[in-house]
Order: sequence, then C-alpha cells, then structure tokens
Amino acid sequence: MRLATPSGFATEVLLLEEPAREWLPEGDWTLVGDLRLRDHWTRAGMPAPSHALWVSVPEEEKKLRTVIPWLEHWAKVPLHRDATVVALGGGVLTDLVGLAASLFLRGVAWQAWPTSLLAMADAGLGGKTGADLAAGKNLVGAFHPPRRLVACTAFLESLPRRHVENGRWELLKTAFIQGEPGWAAEMLQEGPVKVAWVERALAYKAGVVHRDPKESGERRLLNLGHTLGHALEAASGYQLLHGEAVGLGLLGSCLLAEEQGLKPFPAATLEALARRLAPLAPLVAPWPACLPLLARDKKAIHVPSQGQPTTEIHCILPRPGEPALQRTLPPEAWESPHARLLALLHSETVRA
Ligand SMILES: NC(=O)c1ccc[n+]([C@@H]2O[C@H](COP(=O)([O-])OP(=O)(O)OC[C@H]3O[C@@H](n4cnc5c(N)ncnc54)[C@H](O)[C@@H]3O)[C@@H](O)[C@H]2O)c1
Repeated sequence: MRLATPSGFATEVLLLEEPAREWLPEGDWTLVGDLRLRDHWTRAGMPAPSHALWVSVPEEEKKLRTVIPWLEHWAKVPLHRDATVVALGGGVLTDLVGLAASLFLRGVAWQAWPTSLLAMADAGLGGKTGADLAAGKNLVGAFHPPRRLVACTAFLESLPRRHVENGRWELLKTAFIQGEPGWAAEMLQEGPVKVAWVERALAYKAGVVHRDPKESGERRLLNLGHTLGHALEAASGYQLLHGEAVGLGLLGSCLLAEEQGLKPFPAATLEALARRLAPLAPLVAPWPACLPLLARDKKAIHVPSQGQPTTEIHCILPRPGEPALQRTLPPEAWESPHARLLALLHSETVRA
C-alpha cells in the first residue's frame, strides 16, 4: 500500500507485508543491510549487489568511525553520483546509512527499508540522519530524506519482543502529541501491534515534516518524551533502549504538564503508562545524574540574564484530548516530575 503523503513530499512511503523487488531503485544501487535480515531478504527472493555490505552495528557503534569504511568501499566500487544506497535495518542503520549517503560525493540518493518497529514508525521517515559523539546522541548529522521508505511488516516476525515494545512507545508518543486518548488507550492494552497504527503514525509524521522540515516550529512536537528521555537513556549508559526512554519521558512529560498548570491526565492513564514502564524502574537514573544531561540538551537555549546566561530547554507538554504544546523551561523544572515518575513506577511494581 502506498501511503497518501502531502504533494511534493520528498519521500514515497510504502507499507508492504513482504519485500518486493519492484520497489528497489531503478538504476545503479547498492545495499547496506543488517546481517540479521540477510536470510529473510534472500528467502524473499530479493537481490543484493555483489558489493552489498552486510553489517552488524550496535547502538554503541552509531559513530562516524562506522561509516568511514563504507564510504571508502563505495569509492572503490566505484559508486557514481546517480546511484542509490538502500538501507535495510533498524534505526541505527537507517540513521547511519542516510548520513553516509548525505556525505558520499556530497550527497547520493538513498532508500530506507526499516526492519524494526521503531524505525518503521519513526526513524526511517523525516530526513534526519545522524551519528553520536562522545558528548551525546545524534550530535552530528544531516537532513537528507530518503527517496523512498519501504516498511515490510514481515520483517517484524523476527524482531525480539523487547524491541517490539520499544517501537510501541514511539507510536504512543504520536497519540499523545495529537491528544488522542482513545488511540493511546488501545495501544496501552496488551496485544499485538497493529499495522494500522504504523500507518497512522507515518501519515502524521509525513504531514508535520513536510510543513516544518528543519524543525523550526511544529516538528519540535515530535520530541515529546525525548527531553527527559534522552537524559535517562544516556544516564543509563544506553541500557535503556531509545523507545523505552521516550516512554519514560512521556510519562514524565504528563506530570510536568500538570505541574505547569495544564489539565491533568486521569489517574487511570498515568497508571496504565506506569504499569507498562514499571519493569524499567531499575534503569532510571537518579536526578543528580539527569540534571547535567538535560542542561546539555542539543536544543538548549542560553538566555542572557543580568550578564549571567541561564539555560532553558524546549519541553513538549501533552494534554488530555488536545494537541501537545511547546514551552521553554529551565532543566530544574523536571526535578519534581522525575521524582513522581519514580514513585509511580515503584507503586506499580509493588502492585504487580
Ligand atoms: N532519524 C530519526 O528521526 C530517528 C527517530 C527515532 C529514533 N532514531 C534512532 O533510531 C535508533 C534506534 O533504532 P532501533 O530501535 O531500530 O534500534 P537498532 O537499529 O539498534 O535495532 C534494534 C535491534 O534489533 C535488530 N533488528 C532490527 N530489525 C530486526 C528484525 N526485523 N529482526 C531481528 N532483529 C532485528 C538490530 O540488529 C538491533 O540489534 C536510535 O539510534 C535513535 O536515535 C532516529
């Protein structure tokens, strides 16, 4: 199925069950694929050029040093300016391959074939490519949208359960941004992830990204859960997966929104979030470890105040039944939501 996207949108978006060769690039192309998907790709009758690279890149290796051998390899092949690079894998791989494509010959075309739920629902779309620096996640990157995104749900059959749940949080994030309590409640129930949810999240993201490709306004809403989430992810030494950290950040954002005087979420919603997140409680770092990471957020604003600059960070505040809104706040505003988040997780752990 081809998703309806805004006219002029940079990426053609397809949601398929099994991969199909008709959606591969028409001209010269190469592939960088996750080794774990190689058998599935071959069994499905999909071709791979002899110069394809089959790799295994853990989150800790989402670094510039990982892409340099790929660039050298493409130069040796040689890959020409009109060739297309196909990225087959989770969000780590689609982010890195997209970045490498943006750098090679100052930019060659690429296609994203996301294979994790998180990459299908979020990372593969929107043109943000990137790598981590020692100082933090995704601190280097380029806006370089793929020409085509092909999400094949059959790949999800081999995805470990923890990674399926990880992707569910990015879907839930979309429901909370839009203020859709019914959709959120459906996704919070036990049961399998539905393709219709992925379709809905992709359609929403395509609209937002089209209106604000460089994140100067509306696109910031997509960062719901990421402000506290990125700090918790880094403070856990990346033991928390990205989506899990976003889930924790999402619950923290509901609590922050209430403290900022917005309409509170019903206790049942907060408890349902906390119940799903409770097993992650041991990975939630204490507040003193989170504060410096929040202050170093890459979207931090340094506001001059009586000669002494103070830091504020963009925070996205969800509201029940209404779209989320943006506010800039000092990092310290997260201290109380962080404490309440931990208390909620602990009370759900005790109740379980
Ligand atoms: N560019 C963006 O807009 C954006 C948005 C959200 C997240 N991200 C990035 O995405 C990354 C996280 O992505 P992720 O959660 O996909 O992690 P990942 O890429 O590390 O994949 C998760 C694990 O699942 C394996 N895997 C992937 N697909 C599989 C399959 N079908 N079957 C079996 N195993 C499979 C991978 O080898 C890996 O071990 C983070 O680096 C984050 O920063 C980017």
